[in-house]
Amino acid sequence: MTRPVVIADRLTRHYELGGGLFGDKPVVRALSEASFRLEPGKTLAVVGESGCGKSTLARVVTMIEPPSAGTLVLDGVEAGPDTMAELRQTVQIVFQDPYGSLNPRQRIGQILEEPLKINRPAMSAADRQEAARRMLSQVGLRPEHYDRYPHMFSGGQRQRIAVGRALMLEPKVLVLDEPVSALDLSIQSQILNLLVDLQERLGLAYLFISHDLSVVKHIADDIIVMYLGRPVEVGTKEAVFAHPRHPYTKALLSATPMADPFAQKERIRLTGELPSPLKIPQGCPFSPRCWKAQDKCRAERPELDDSAHPAACFFPE
Ligand SMILES: Nc1ncnc2c1ncn2[C@@H]1O[C@H](COP(=O)(O)OP(=O)(O)OP(=O)(O)O)[C@@H](O)[C@H]1O
Ligand SMILES: [Mg+2]
Repeated sequence: MTRPVVIADRLTRHYELGGGLFGDKPVVRALSEASFRLEPGKTLAVVGESGCGKSTLARVVTMIEPPSAGTLVLDGVEAGPDTMAELRQTVQIVFQDPYGSLNPRQRIGQILEEPLKINRPAMSAADRQEAARRMLSQVGLRPEHYDRYPHMFSGGQRQRIAVGRALMLEPKVLVLDEPVSALDLSIQSQILNLLVDLQERLGLAYLFISHDLSVVKHIADDIIVMYLGRPVEVGTKEAVFAHPRHPYTKALLSATPMADPFAQKERIRLTGELPSPLKIPQGCPFSPRCWKAQDKCRAERPELDDSAHPAACFFPE
């Protein structure tokens, strides 16, 4: 078995909001006890509705924010203040918005070379330029793009630049937070194909965040389904798509139009609003919206079971 490049153990991130009336500060439980392992060359997809903590998980795994509890081990080294500088090069992130994430005043060459300037001060300007030019071709751009500015590129091309910049320090893990959600459908598949290609060539591990299950179906090896900050189902892509165990996963799948319209017979409509992570329901957090919920579900929170395809549900499929 290969050693995982990411080991997340009960990662938690809570935000205390200022000014509770009686000193009781409200707490946003954005992420609670997320555990997983990610091996080189593999893609772990994180799915769930808006606000379920996907981007919070992305920020914690890329060390943009420290966890409030839990541990993160990257390539065998535990993340913390002392190892931050060393690990910065191990994990990199690509964001959703290809328009906001590139400095409009920098040429593409500068954008690609900046991480080298900061992290490899001994590298010569000529070597940096050479590395940036090589990266352009790796991500499917042309040599003449080196001198152009971001506004001269389409959304898909900008996302290629963002991926290229993230790869300049030769990371082992790429966290992709909705990397194709802002792109047209036809461009989405080009970027997904580029990612698959780069993963094969470079042995990269991807933490791939998406609310779109049809995208995940294309690229994931394994899937974590999140609900209100907690993983509620974890399994291989095949297992999760073919035999969802958590009612929430079933509902998500049923709401996603897939290539085969006959594959899903029943359509489940989720009732009730998604509760706020400021006020997570008692017991199973999904119980107020669940058609299978019993008294037990409203009283106690189910943990992920320890099967090969765990679900956090008292009455799984
Ligand atoms: N710095 C912060 N302070 C307070 N609350 C926060 C902070 N960052 C995120 N949150 C809250 O934490 C919850 C999870 O947010 P997060 O951005 O991780 O969700 P998400 O799954 O990425 O959603 P989306 O699909 O909309 O991108 C949300 O309710 C959000 O408002
Ligand atoms: Mg997000």
